[in-house]
Amino acid sequence: MQTVFLNGRGDFDEWRDAARVLLLSEVEPERIDWRIAGEGADLAGFAETPLPVPPPGRKAVAVPPAFLELAESIVCHSDPARFSLLYRLLWRIREDRALLQVVSDPDVIAARKLEKSVRRDSHKMKAFVRFKEVTSDDPTGRRRSFISWFEPDHFIVARMAPFFRRRFFDMDWVIATPKGSAAWDGESLTVSDLPAEKPTATDATDDLWRIYYANIFNPARLKVKAMTAEMPKKYWKNLPEAALIPDLIATAEAKVIEMAARAASQPPAFHARLQERMAEERADPAPPPEGLEALRHAASRCTLCPLHCHATQTVFGEGSVTAKAMIVGEQPGDQEDLAGRPFVGPAGKLFDGVLSEIGLDRSSLYVTNAVKHFKYEPRGKRRIHQKPNQSEIEQCRWWLKQEVELVQPKLIVAMGATAYFALTGEKERLTDIRGKIFSMTEGRRLFVTVHPSFLLRLPDERRKASELSRFREEMAVVRQLAETGCPDYP
Ligand code: URA
Repeated sequence: MQTVFLNGRGDFDEWRDAARVLLLSEVEPERIDWRIAGEGADLAGFAETPLPVPPPGRKAVAVPPAFLELAESIVCHSDPARFSLLYRLLWRIREDRALLQVVSDPDVIAARKLEKSVRRDSHKMKAFVRFKEVTSDDPTGRRRSFISWFEPDHFIVARMAPFFRRRFFDMDWVIATPKGSAAWDGESLTVSDLPAEKPTATDATDDLWRIYYANIFNPARLKVKAMTAEMPKKYWKNLPEAALIPDLIATAEAKVIEMAARAASQPPAFHARLQERMAEERADPAPPPEGLEALRHAASRCTLCPLHCHATQTVFGEGSVTAKAMIVGEQPGDQEDLAGRPFVGPAGKLFDGVLSEIGLDRSSLYVTNAVKHFKYEPRGKRRIHQKPNQSEIEQCRWWLKQEVELVQPKLIVAMGATAYFALTGEKERLTDIRGKIFSMTEGRRLFVTVHPSFLLRLPDERRKASELSRFREEMAVVRQLAETGCPDYP
């Protein structure tokens, strides 16, 4: 039996040097006893066997880079069995270079598990190292000095040190851990694998962490299991903000109730004053802005109706200013409100899918909405879409009219009854007008179809499929009309 002692503190080279000699000497994995020096094993009667001398002329086998990468990570793991596992993999990889791709292989599974654990530990170190300022011995007084204490599961300090140098390049720091330490002084990065002592420093940043954490904590999104998976309890003792967690959890429910009560409020009082001001402006309107961009900018400040008070932003139309066809929907939904672009949420995805099926390029169209602000009712964490009322549609019509004037499309497509009402001022049942072409002023045509959200809401799968195929056919008509400029419809 060959007994090999390693320090086993995350140093890849010491394992690699031993493994290389053993492999060249054809020592089988089962004949090697890998041990950690200084953990009692060497004192308990296990003597290190000198490494064999490989037969002369034998060449080392090149190993795949993926193995080296895996080995460099796994060597940092604290499991004493990692060295024998790595050697076994190395031995087998000589015969099967694709071994690491065999995801069902027990050695590969075990290695990936160790690798994952090192990755997770490294991620936690990035997230949970907390620096505290200490007196600087920089004679110029320009550099500040910090110290931190972290307790990793594995020997990752040397591996992570370059990350901290990049991130905290302009300060002097020491990261001390029971599994080694790293220090940066602006010129050199020093790493030691000796266990460090826990420092006792505290400073005002502890309070800052607590203030920060208390402010980003959202009681309405509290999921204790997910939170403790992300921030496991074993790290809490070194995180100043962790002391707040039990109380934040205990009071979360009451805070959510209080928040919900506050959310269900009336439009803010300033709205009445804005309405008054807008009414005066309407009596003496400014000339419409010139050009789509100017119009978009003006619309971003629109306060014509109460919807602007709660929506995130105005969702203006977008697309080609020379588009032959303009598509008009109802109003932006939750995702459009956040993105500031029309038809990017579920209805937009359905719409885009149909366009690509019929070969109509969305960028050749101008896509907009009858109403430019999202209207919703808050329900818990969700914002439930509400239809715009007649007054909101009428107020917003001014913008739609300006868009039509600027784009001068030959064809307008009303998707749904709201769009039809905004464009014509007439209330019709969609079933009576769907699929029809109407004449508008300036030789423009109006084609009516359903709104994609209608298709998304249909509960019956068969009906949904048949309505979708009808919508597809109608959009194919739109494509044809847009391409020909509607010549057959006098
Ligand atoms: N529904 C609409 O009418 N418009 C959008 O932009 C999104 C969903």
